[in-house]
Amino acid sequence: MNNKILIAGGSSGIGYGIAKHFYEKGWDVLITGRSKDKLNSAKAAMPGIRTIVYDSANENHLADLVNFIENDWNGLLDILVNSAGHVELTSLKDISKSSLEAMYQAHLIGPTLLASKCLKFLAATNGHILNITSSHGIKVYADLSAYGSAKAGLNMLTKIWSLELAPLGIKVNAIAPGPTNTGILKAAGYDDETVLTIQESEKKQIPLQRRGNVDDIVSVAVAILESKWTTGIILPVDGGISIS
Ligand SMILES: NC(=O)c1ccc[n+]([C@@H]2O[C@H](COP(=O)([O-])OP(=O)(O)OC[C@H]3O[C@@H](n4cnc5c(N)ncnc54)[C@H](OP(=O)(O)O)[C@@H]3O)[C@@H](O)[C@H]2O)c1
Repeated sequence: MNNKILIAGGSSGIGYGIAKHFYEKGWDVLITGRSKDKLNSAKAAMPGIRTIVYDSANENHLADLVNFIENDWNGLLDILVNSAGHVELTSLKDISKSSLEAMYQAHLIGPTLLASKCLKFLAATNGHILNITSSHGIKVYADLSAYGSAKAGLNMLTKIWSLELAPLGIKVNAIAPGPTNTGILKAAGYDDETVLTIQESEKKQIPLQRRGNVDDIVSVAVAILESKWTTGIILPVDGGISIS
């Protein structure tokens, strides 16, 4: 029987890169996203990959994922990756309840409920949870109350879960990427000029003097996921930005 990986937010960017790696290794791969079109494009590029529309705020979508693993994968899951997320720059004076709720839903509530529902599947394989957090959850910036606190919270959840789940043989780790070339800024609604300005400013702060690529993150994700004796780490993969 093939090994099985679920990647929440696997329809683009970092999650897609992780999905592609495991797809090419012959694993059974299930990816999620809110956009059906993006999921269909991924399916066209990786025939046989499984896709489910999943917005973590929608309890029916969560039930769909759980039912799929129970019925189609016989209740087995080797790896859960929490990569679904978006970014937003907001000053404290302009922050709104709806943007805070969306941020905490995507990065804290969603991953927690998904991990909770997947516990029995992961326990059956002595599996692994990998959370994709951010250097913004480590290094402090202004205008990032929502995103920075959400990612710092997910870093802490990683450590809490790792202690709690170690007796079940489940490993829990996080990668905290630095600025990485994906569509996340565009998806946040910024125009091309603003995206370039943000990217240039980020690049100047990176000691290794370049932004990351998806492969920079995937290669480290794979190394962590291959380890059988690593749990509770928050690994910055960020060109050094978190210590700059
Ligand atoms: N790129 C970076 O510079 C960077 C740096 C540090 C950390 N990260 C983190 O890495 C993760 C992946 O980001 P990425 O750069 O790969 O971005 P991306 O290419 O925009 O991918 C985001 C993925 O999450 C899904 N998604 C977005 N918001 C969602 C929500 N509210 N609920 C459910 N699914 C959602 C997207 O699909 P749909 O839009 O169709 O839902 C997509 O599958 C995120 O958690 C991000 O915070 C990124």
